[in-house]
Amino acid sequence: MKLMITGGAGFIGGNFVRRMLRQHPDYTVVNLDKLTYAGNLESLQDLEGNPGYRFLRGDICDREKVEECMSQGVEAVVHFAAESHVDRSIVDAQAFVQTNVLGTQVLLDAARRNRIRRFVHVSTDEVYGSLGPTGYFTEETPLAPNSPYAASKAGSDLLVRSYFHTHRLPVVITRCSNNYGPFQFPEKLIPLLITNAKEGKPLPVYGDGSNVRDWIHVEDHCAAIDTVLHQGREGAVYNIGGRCEKPNLEIVRLILRLMDKPETLITFVKDRPGHDHRYAIDCSLVEKELGWSNAIPFQEGLRKTVEWYLQNEAWVAQVKSGDYQGYYRKMYEERDRTFTRL
Ligand code: NAD
Ligand code: TYD
Repeated sequence: MKLMITGGAGFIGGNFVRRMLRQHPDYTVVNLDKLTYAGNLESLQDLEGNPGYRFLRGDICDREKVEECMSQGVEAVVHFAAESHVDRSIVDAQAFVQTNVLGTQVLLDAARRNRIRRFVHVSTDEVYGSLGPTGYFTEETPLAPNSPYAASKAGSDLLVRSYFHTHRLPVVITRCSNNYGPFQFPEKLIPLLITNAKEGKPLPVYGDGSNVRDWIHVEDHCAAIDTVLHQGREGAVYNIGGRCEKPNLEIVRLILRLMDKPETLITFVKDRPGHDHRYAIDCSLVEKELGWSNAIPFQEGLRKTVEWYLQNEAWVAQVKSGDYQGYYRKMYEERDRTFTRL
């Protein structure tokens, strides 16, 4: 299969590119990524020279670039590219609407033109809004996004849905809970806590730390997307979750314990505006219909994630400094000009 992955230089997309080449060595993967602050080719260095893999730097809002990429005989698209951080969407939502909504529509049009056989849209449980102390999000829960990030993802989900109903484009939507694992940009909770704790810096906890998230290891999420790509029903939505609900303060304490650091590093800070209280996913549909289930227990996944961040100091330093962006941009501007067809 010739597979196009958008946002493959980011956290989940990068882990997915690597999984595809490992699990399906006969596949060809082309990775289209704009390399925003969140895209890092350093994370995919081990794939350099792999004959089944190509990188193309480009914006999913750029019709010509998308066409150039998709018209090379691509059969399936897995769409990860997005602005993904809630806090940034509160400061400025423009890029979120641009990439998440408009970019998705550009991809959908190109997918129609190129008769793509499968379009997997990677979305989030945040489109459902917030839960009280009980209950779960199912695939039938009405969309009620609360942050500009979640609203832009909900907008993209609805566009994807409409292309199935109107144009019979063979789409599938996944909605996953909070991911953790290697190569996550250290502005998100778990890598931020690990990298701050390592440097003895304060660990910022929003509000009173009672907000609950459902955590899933990125490799389990990627395995679920792999399953949906190959076996998912056209037009369906599948919730994906870790069956692992934890209040933020518990996560902070677990990480401090794993790193043998004092709880005095915990610093309660002003709450995030509109902070969703609780996310909890009912993922029984993907489990029963497609036979996927989680394989990585949270304690083990978290321990390995802490170890990974401690062992990959150079990656963290580079991502935090932002140096890699200029460096790779230059290198890939040159390479883009000589990009060869798959
Ligand atoms: P990320 O921020 O780590 O990576 C996003 C990637 O998209 C980056 O490589 C970036 O360069 C690229 N990108 C951004 N704008 C682009 C554009 N206009 N054109 C091309 N590339 C562009 O994000 P992530 O955490 O890996 O999330 C990937 C997807 O999964 C997103 O769609 C997100 O909504 C969804 N998701 C994430 C989580 C999570 O916990 N991280 C959970 C559920 C769903
Ligand atoms: P985050 O990783 O930003 O994911 P999301 O907002 O998409 O769930 O945040 C996870 C939880 O951690 C969320 O409840 C906000 C909280 N949080 C903090 O308490 N401190 C922080 O510095 C960050 C980044 C998040």
